[in-house]
Amino acid sequence: MSATAPEADVIAVGRDLAAALPSASRNPLKALDDRAMDMASQDAGLRAALFRFVDVVPACRSLDDLAQHLTGFLDEVGDRPPPLEVAMRMGASRPGRTALGAAAAAGVKHMAHRFIVGATPRDATGVLQDLWKEGVASSVDLLGEATVTSAEADRYAARCREALDGLVEVYARLPQRPALERDSAGPIPRANLSVKVSALTPLLRPDAPELGKRDAAGRLRDLLRRARELGAHLHIDMESFDSREAVTDLVLELLDEDEFRDGPSAGLVLQAYLRDSPELCERIIAWAQATSRTQPLFVRLVKGAYWDHEIVEARQHGWESPVFEVKAESDRNFEALTRRLLDARPAVRVAIASHNLRSIAHAVAYNRSVGAPDGDLELQVLRGLGDDLQHALAARGLRVRTYCPVGDLVSGMAYLVRRLLENTSNESFLHEQASGRPLEALLAAP
Ligand code: 2OP
Repeated sequence: MSATAPEADVIAVGRDLAAALPSASRNPLKALDDRAMDMASQDAGLRAALFRFVDVVPACRSLDDLAQHLTGFLDEVGDRPPPLEVAMRMGASRPGRTALGAAAAAGVKHMAHRFIVGATPRDATGVLQDLWKEGVASSVDLLGEATVTSAEADRYAARCREALDGLVEVYARLPQRPALERDSAGPIPRANLSVKVSALTPLLRPDAPELGKRDAAGRLRDLLRRARELGAHLHIDMESFDSREAVTDLVLELLDEDEFRDGPSAGLVLQAYLRDSPELCERIIAWAQATSRTQPLFVRLVKGAYWDHEIVEARQHGWESPVFEVKAESDRNFEALTRRLLDARPAVRVAIASHNLRSIAHAVAYNRSVGAPDGDLELQVLRGLGDDLQHALAARGLRVRTYCPVGDLVSGMAYLVRRLLENTSNESFLHEQASGRPLEALLAAP
C-alpha cells in the first residue's frame, strides 16, 4: 500500500472546502430545527423525550392524543427550557392541547422533510432536477426496512421497479453534466437507486441467514435485471451487523451470475465503524479483482449509521461490540480503508460518504497524491445533513452524489431516528463544527 497523503495537503484541501461552505444557514426554519436538535444534544433527558415522541407520532390518532404524549414525555425531563414550559402549560387545556398537537406535528413533519425529499419518487422530481442543475447527482433511497410479510416485500420490490423507471425518465430530460456522468472507467449511470435487503425479504434473520438470502435473491435479481435493461445503477445498502454477511454474500453471488456480466452498474457498502471492516474490504476487493464482470463494483465507504443499535445489541447479549466505541479509532480506520479502496481501482469505483471535513479532505488529497484525477473519486452526502457540503464540493469541481430518501413518515421513521441520533450526538462532526471548534482542530489527523 502507498504511503498516506502529506498532512499539509490534507489540511490545505480541508481549508479550501471550508472556505466554500456558507458561513451560516439562511433558512430560518432550518435554524429552528437546528435549535431543537441543539437543545436535545445538550440534555440527555430531552434527547430521550424527543426520540420517544418522534417514535409515537405516526401512531397518534388525534392532535389531542399527540399533545398528551408530548407533555407526558416532557414531564419526565428535569430542567425544561422556557419554550417547553410553554408547551407544558398549553397541555393543560383541551384547546391548548389541540394547538400544541398541531404545532408538534408540524415540527416533526418539517424535521422529517429535511431528510426525506418526498412521499413518492414523483414528488422528488423537482429536488432531483435542481440538484442535477447545481452539479449534484443523487441516489434515491426508497424508505422501508425490516419487512414482516412476503406481500410487503413484494410491494417494496414493485415500488423499487417503478422508481427505477421513473428515475430514468426524470434524468433523461436533464442536460449533460460531464463531471457527473463519467470517470476513467467509463460512463456512470445518471439514475441511481439504493435498496435495503431487509425490505426485500421478511426472513433476514441472523440465526438463519441462508433462508433470508434465498428469499431476497428472487426479488433482487429482478431489480438487477430491470436496472440492466434501463442502464440504471443499483446500490445495495448495508444495515445492521447481524445481516451484513448475508447481504454481502447475496450481492456478490448474484452479480457473479452470467446474465449480469455486462451490467447493471451495481454497488455495496462498507461500514468503517465495524472492527472487522478491513477483512471485509479485502474480501470485496479480491472478489472485484477476480470477477469477469465488465463494470467495476461501486463501493460506498461509510462510517455506519447503526452505532447505537449495535452497542445496545452487544450489551444485551454480553458480546464484545462489533463497532469501534472510540470515534478516533473509527475515523482512523475510515482513512485507512479510503486509501485501500482507492488503491484497488480500477477493479472498484470508490464513493466516500461522509460529512466529516477531515475524512473528505483526506480522500481528496490522497487521490491527488497518487496522481488520479478528482473525477475518479466520488463523494456522497445525505440529504438534510450534507446540504451545504454538497454545494461546496460541487463548487470545487468534485463529483458529489446526495442520498435522497423517498417515502412517507411511517416507512421513514427508523431512518429519521438514525438521522436525529446523528444530529444530536455530541460526537458528530457537524455538532462539533456548529459548536465553534476551530478549523485546525476539526481538520487534525484522528
Ligand atoms: C441509513 O439508512 C444512510 O443507509 C443509511 O441510515
